[in-house]
Order: sequence, then structure tokens, then C-alpha cells
Amino acid sequence: MSQDSIAATSLAGSRNDGKRGLWSSRWAFILAATGSAVGLGNIWKFPYITGENGGGAFVLVYLACILVIGIPLLMAEVMIGRRGRANPEGAIAAMAREAGASQHWRWLGTLAVICGFLILSFYAVVAGWALAYTPAAASGAFAGLDGEASGALFGALLANPWKLAGYGTLVLVLTLGIVACGVRDGLERSLRFLMPGLFVLLLILVGYAATTGHFMQAVHFLFDADFSKLSGTGVLVALGHAFFTLSLASGAMMAYGSYLPAGTSIAKTSIMVAIADTGVALLAGLAIFPLVFANGLEPGAGPGLIFVTLPIAFGQMPLGQVVGGLFFIMLAIAALTSAISLSEPTIAWLSEKFGISRLKAVLCSGAALWLLSLGTVFSFNAWSEVTLFGKTFFDSLDFLTTNLMMPLGGLATVLFTGWVLSRKTVQESLGIDQPQLFNLWWQLLRFITPVAILVVFLHSLGVF
Ligand code: PHE
Repeated sequence: MSQDSIAATSLAGSRNDGKRGLWSSRWAFILAATGSAVGLGNIWKFPYITGENGGGAFVLVYLACILVIGIPLLMAEVMIGRRGRANPEGAIAAMAREAGASQHWRWLGTLAVICGFLILSFYAVVAGWALAYTPAAASGAFAGLDGEASGALFGALLANPWKLAGYGTLVLVLTLGIVACGVRDGLERSLRFLMPGLFVLLLILVGYAATTGHFMQAVHFLFDADFSKLSGTGVLVALGHAFFTLSLASGAMMAYGSYLPAGTSIAKTSIMVAIADTGVALLAGLAIFPLVFANGLEPGAGPGLIFVTLPIAFGQMPLGQVVGGLFFIMLAIAALTSAISLSEPTIAWLSEKFGISRLKAVLCSGAALWLLSLGTVFSFNAWSEVTLFGKTFFDSLDFLTTNLMMPLGGLATVLFTGWVLSRKTVQESLGIDQPQLFNLWWQLLRFITPVAILVVFLHSLGVF
């Protein structure tokens, strides 16, 4: 079926209840979207970039980015998905058609699908680290580790392409296996037990950190803002992270929005997802930093914070085996629910654009993802010296997606929603009853959000 005929039927709703599937309720959507948002970004990346960028001031800028850029854009993406009722490219094409705008806007959707695909290729490898560390933590391999030994343990994992590829493949198989089963039987059914499990584990860990670690030191570190510690790059990192953590500009939220039942408030659900996501990031900080400080370790240790620094703490504390095992299981679950959402746009796009079954789409994209993931695997060992602009394959993919494609894709989505679509269509599809509230969001989206993205983006490129 051609993209145009998909677009034509989707707005009329005829594809919707038949083949595409819907979440069973708005709670199912909130669970799924929160599962997408909460991931390695919250538990692995947020604590270490906060540590690297000096703590409280960075957290404040990040929160401002979530509020001014993240939430308005999240609402726009869910809205486009729901009204377009198709994969990101099809949904944008449908909206552009309705608005009488150029069909070239569809490329924005294609770009988002590609961005999600590229992210998943390295996300699966990093998620594999969590899988590799779970048995290590639970079997007591961290007992008595010092900094050097812990670094060597992580180094040995990275140096072993077989292990990295093996665990990465396992993540891809689990993810695509769930996605192949469809929206309700695959995604929704698995999320119903994965997400509560994740929250329970997180709360247990925060409770443990609060009672045994240097909790107040962590609270001061996360919430006392000292702006002299924040650099221009730190501001860009905060922006990039706001996109990444809310799963924006990667097709994930549009795809999930396309399964959202009509009549659900997009504003309320989006705000709930943003609050849950931010809450988990802060809680992850409160679970990790008390242990880091209690063991005299370095909060600004970078990407190794969780895989090098934290195991030292697990190796020294009472019940470290249990707590460490639970921690890495939690990380793996969080990563899995995000990986599921990273693959959904590609699967929906392939099956709707080319009229193939979900299973075929899973197999094709799985093969391509697996091959690409090997690039990330080798960038830690065999190809570690192969660089482009001084970055390894993994660093380049991360930079290209998080720092270039996401801000630019996000900016284009904001402009498309605020300046190409009609106010009436947007208001109608968003379902905000209070006109003042809608107005506030609309002005934010049209003026403040794009300017904020542009300023931070250009600043980061050194334009001013
Ligand atoms: N939000 C996820 C995280 O924080 C990552 C992600 C990005 C998921 C883009 C889907 C789309 O780990």
C-alpha cells in the first residue's frame, strides 16, 4: 500500500481499529510511554552527566529544558501520532495533507524513524552491559574490588567482542521478540509486569541508600545550584538529555501516540509521563550518589560511574551482592522497555509502508540492527583506534543522534506543529478543555520552544 493511501485512510480512522491495535486504556499508554522514557538515560546517563557537570546547577537547567522544551514537544508528538494514526512518516504525511502543506514534511517522520533505529543499535549494546553485570554482581564478583580492579573488570568486558556482541544480541532478541507479538499481546502485556517491578526495585535501592549511605551529601550535590560549575557545553548536554530521556524526536512517542485511544487527554498523560521520568532520574541519583559518597568515590567519574564506581561500593557494603544484583536487574528492565519503544517506529514503518507482516518487519530490521550493533561492539576493542573527527563509531553515533538529529528533528517537529498545522486542528486533536491552558502551550510551542532549541544548539556548535 502506498504511503498516500495510508495517509488518506488513517485520518478517517479506518486503519485504526482494524489492523493497527490500540492500548487497552490510557494507563496502558502511560505505562508504555513511561517505560520508553525511563531507561539507560535515567539510571546510567543522568547520574554521570550530573556528576561531570557539577551537580545542582546542571539539574536545574535540565529541569528547565524538560519544562520549556520537553513537555510541549512530547505533547505535539503524541498528538501527531494519534491524529495521524500511522507510523511517524505516515502520521506526519497525513497531517501535512490535512493542512494542505507540502508532502516533503514526511521526511521529518522518516528521519525520526532512522534516528530511533540508529540509537537502538548502540542502546542494545549498552543494555547488554547491564545483563552482563547482573550475574557478576549477584555471584559476589565485586567483593573487595578497589578502583583499579573494578576498572579492569569493566575493561575486560569492553575488550571482549564476543561477550559484548553476545549480550547485545540477547537484548535485541528479547526486544524484537516482544515487539513481534504486537501492541497488546507483546508490548502491553510485558510492560504490565516490567514497569511495576522497576519501580519497586528503585524504591528498595533508594531506601537502602538512604539508610546506609551519605544521603544528605547526595541531596546537596543534586539540589544545591552552583552556576560557576556549569559550562556552555553542560547546557547543551542538558538539552540533548531532555530529548533523549523523554524519547523525543526518535519516532517512539509518535508511534506510541498512534495507539492511544481517542478521547484520552494528551496533556495530562504527557505531563504524567514527564513527571514519572524526571522522578526516576532524580531517584536514581538518590540511589547512586549516597553510595558513591559513603565509599569516598568520585561522582564525576563519567560513563564508568555505574559500571566501575558503583561495583566498588557494592563490593564493600553489607548485602552488596543482593543490592548489586537488584540494581543491574533494574537497569536491564529499564533498558529493555526503552529498547522496545526504539524498535516500534521502525517495525510500524516497515510493515505499513511496504505492506509486510510485523514478523517480517521484525526479522528484516533485526538483521540490520544486529549488523550495525557490531560497529558499536568493535568500537570498544578492535576498532577503538578508528575515529571520525576524533570520535569512535559508538561516540559518533551517540553524538549524531543525541546532539544533532534529536535537536534538529525536535525543532522541525515544533515548527511543523506550531506553524504548519492549523490552530483549530491542533486544539481539536489535543483535547485541552481550558482555552487559557491551550493558549499557554500554543505560545510556548510556537515561540519559546523553537528559540530555546535553536539558541542552545547554535551555542553548542560554537556559533556564538
Ligand atoms: N528515553 C530512553 C532513556 O532514557 C531512551 C530512548 C530514546 C528511548 C529515544 C526511546 C527513544 O534511556
